[in-house]
Amino acid sequence: MEQNPNRYTITAALPYTNGPVHIGHLAGVYVPADIYARYQRLQNKDVAFICGSDEHGVPITIKAKKEGITPQQVVDKYHGIIKKSFEEFGISFDNYSRTSAEIHHKTASEFFKKLYEDGKFTEEVTEQLYDEEANQFLADRYITGTCPKCGNEEAYGDQCEKCGSSLNATDLINPKSAISGNVPVLKETKHWFLPLNEYEDFLKQWILVDHKKDWKTNVYGQCKSWIDDGLRPRAVTRDLDWGIPVPVEGAEGKVLYVWFDAPIGYISSTKEWAAREGKNWEDYWKNENTKMLHFIGKDNIVFHCIIFPSMLKAEGSYILPENVPANEFLNLEGNKISTSKNWAVWLHEYLEDFPNQQDVLRYTLTANAPETKDNDFTWADFQTRNNSELVAIFGNFINRVVVLTHKYCEGVVPQPASFSEIDKQTLNELTAYPSVIASSLERYRFREAQAEMMNLARLGNKYLADEEPWKTIKTDEERTKTVMYVALQIASALAVLSEPFLPFTSEKLKLMLNVKSSAVETSLRWNDISKNTELLKTGHKINKAELLFSKIEDEQIQAQLDKLQASKKMNASTSSAQAAANKKVEPQKETIQFDDFMKLDMRVGTIIEAEKMPKADKLLVLKVDTGIDVRTIVSGIAQSFTAEEVIGKKVTVLVNLAPRKLRGVESQGMILMTEDAEGKLVFMNPDTDGVENGATIN
Ligand code: 2FM
Ligand code: ZN
Repeated sequence: MEQNPNRYTITAALPYTNGPVHIGHLAGVYVPADIYARYQRLQNKDVAFICGSDEHGVPITIKAKKEGITPQQVVDKYHGIIKKSFEEFGISFDNYSRTSAEIHHKTASEFFKKLYEDGKFTEEVTEQLYDEEANQFLADRYITGTCPKCGNEEAYGDQCEKCGSSLNATDLINPKSAISGNVPVLKETKHWFLPLNEYEDFLKQWILVDHKKDWKTNVYGQCKSWIDDGLRPRAVTRDLDWGIPVPVEGAEGKVLYVWFDAPIGYISSTKEWAAREGKNWEDYWKNENTKMLHFIGKDNIVFHCIIFPSMLKAEGSYILPENVPANEFLNLEGNKISTSKNWAVWLHEYLEDFPNQQDVLRYTLTANAPETKDNDFTWADFQTRNNSELVAIFGNFINRVVVLTHKYCEGVVPQPASFSEIDKQTLNELTAYPSVIASSLERYRFREAQAEMMNLARLGNKYLADEEPWKTIKTDEERTKTVMYVALQIASALAVLSEPFLPFTSEKLKLMLNVKSSAVETSLRWNDISKNTELLKTGHKINKAELLFSKIEDEQIQAQLDKLQASKKMNASTSSAQAAANKKVEPQKETIQFDDFMKLDMRVGTIIEAEKMPKADKLLVLKVDTGIDVRTIVSGIAQSFTAEEVIGKKVTVLVNLAPRKLRGVESQGMILMTEDAEGKLVFMNPDTDGVENGATIN
């Protein structure tokens, strides 16, 4: 095996193919992973940046059922959308595979078989939840219930997304089938378990001792609490018909647990890539000199830090990740991003709505990356980041440099005269940036790294504003040339240092400056910037100026906000329709005779006074003009209305109900009410325009 200490295997969580990718996925996983992979490539590291679609598991079959199509059709559809949108967004995967690929089925099956043959699993017949109506065992997301750890009522059978706990379906309180809504029964079935308890000592040493200092505190903290809670055997097979068949005898109708097969997807995707590129995949997974990193969101921590490493350890020939830089979650306009509620900014839609503006979204997501806590994306912030930072600072600096070089120096890097103190200081500051940015990136502080890159653009802007070449050109052409020379060096450093964050911009800038990062003549490489401030040599010809960024108008932002508003409205009407559908209609009461009905005296009336009954939550004391008289009616409506709200309301009053005392106040009738779908009271006020109080209702 080749000894290469500069090899990196960088994985990004395989997205579920039950929907497209949204900004939460991008900010949490794919943008930081891409920045990191691009950065390491710029350091001349040997990088395998690996991903693919996660096509098994219950989310896929639930989606298929909902859409009335097959699971295969679901994964084909979303695999296509996701793959294309990642490519267009510049996520520079070396390989993007899928877990339905043959190579993956083979790799995952062999992995399972090896552990099975080495006696690493325990085999147990246990009672699992079963839906008698659907004739199906209820694994993972087929079951919902209350999380025993945090009380979240929407926890799934394998995980609570609120507190991040990894669960077994039978742990849930009040479990309910996601297929029929029924309460499940328990039924015996055989499964294979990975006894995580046997890996406790290994995990304690590996995480709690070896990585105490270098893992992010959110990751370390979650791991510590699982380990401290005590680990239990975890089933790695399921009674489902969608997935990789369990490759041993006596396992008919069973498949591998999706979280057993999905991380092996990183391995099979690496194999696919290595075969295509003529590389040895084992160098990237079995060589102690390789650094392996898993970029994930916080809901995936247990799987990547506890379960997958235990699987790799059990297999015996694999390396373990060096780090798992998991991010927290991104919210959208103050609310949790939700696929089912369509509360999201979908990548494929963004790419259509903002063509050629990939870098604006990348920039905003990194500037607000949820690195240490959940963060919020707002369209207003997106607009400001573009207009006030990318356009006004980065774009403005580059535009001035390129335009002025053409204007004062015929588009050629000029010969500098002697450097002033400010020139020397500026060039000196420039040389510090590569290591400052690198140091942040090496510690997975992407926001900080990007902010430093922008500080370099600020340095350039300030330098030009202070040195005013547009003024000196009238009196001192030599000075102007020196200033342009210095500014061009800053611009070319930016072309390289911006690449991990703004790859499309970096590419355009390199074209404008007529350089390629590997061009010998200009030596535009990350680490050369620290050593050499002459990145663009005197006499080098540059190309014409092109705009790097353009202003984003209020109307574009409003259109996005309107889109979200439409989702909100749609959700509100769906949930009230659902509430209505869920509401139990009272059975019809006993039949009465016409004469019985005629005994009721109902009139149109108006509430003319109202006040809260002291010390009673539900009661309002009303004065009602019934047309016959003005009388007092005590009504149990105070939880739906304030006293002020009801004054002046036309209402239907049952006027001949025998008076009765409520909290000492005599009530002389009843106001007729109903309830809306959300349980709020509604007045039964007839369409009363032009109808006088006292009119009878019959
Ligand atoms: O949370 C998710 O979207 C999972 N599909 C991530 C899988 S990561 C890996 F292990 F495959
Ligand atoms: Zn919970």
